[in-house]
Amino acid sequence: MNEFLSISEEETKRIASQLAEQLNGDEVILIYGSLASGKTVFVKGLARGLGIDENLVSSPTFTIMNIYAGKSLLFHLDLYRLEDPGEMDFLGIEDFLGMGVLAVEWGEKAEKAPWAKNAIRVYLEQISEKERKIKVMF
Ligand SMILES: Nc1ncnc2c1ncn2[C@@H]1O[C@H](COP(=O)(O)OP(=O)(O)OP(=O)(O)O)[C@@H](O)[C@H]1O
Ligand SMILES: [Mg+2]
Repeated sequence: MNEFLSISEEETKRIASQLAEQLNGDEVILIYGSLASGKTVFVKGLARGLGIDENLVSSPTFTIMNIYAGKSLLFHLDLYRLEDPGEMDFLGIEDFLGMGVLAVEWGEKAEKAPWAKNAIRVYLEQISEKERKIKVMF
């Protein structure tokens, strides 16, 4: 486990970017944390580390999933709107597992999926306006 205290959006991106640089390119990363804790910021940092323009990364609120191409593909999933874990079956995630890095906001909603088993887990906790505790569990 790695633990960080980030004091800015930029620092959170750097932490995520350094994690991304160490990836094989087929990992699942579940991201936990309440509203505005920095989940999307973290994904922007992952994108940076994968050689993707982080400004392309936005919250896939209406699309559920966005796909970006860099050193490897980045599948960015936001499960905020998922009401029933059974809805996950319709996303067909198994079809692209292993084809890129899969980063999932609201990781708790994917907890029961078979592909979540060996995921890297990232916990974001808002400490103050600018401070975030970041725990990365492998
Ligand atoms: N240390 C920090 N790390 C990350 N974000 C920070 C930090 N300090 C302040 N922020 C701000 O917190 C907000 C985080 O927004 P972000 O969209 O990443 O949250 P989120 O967890 O994805 O929210 P949502 O649940 O709506 O998807 C941004 O406005 C960002 O600028
Ligand atoms: Mg978000």
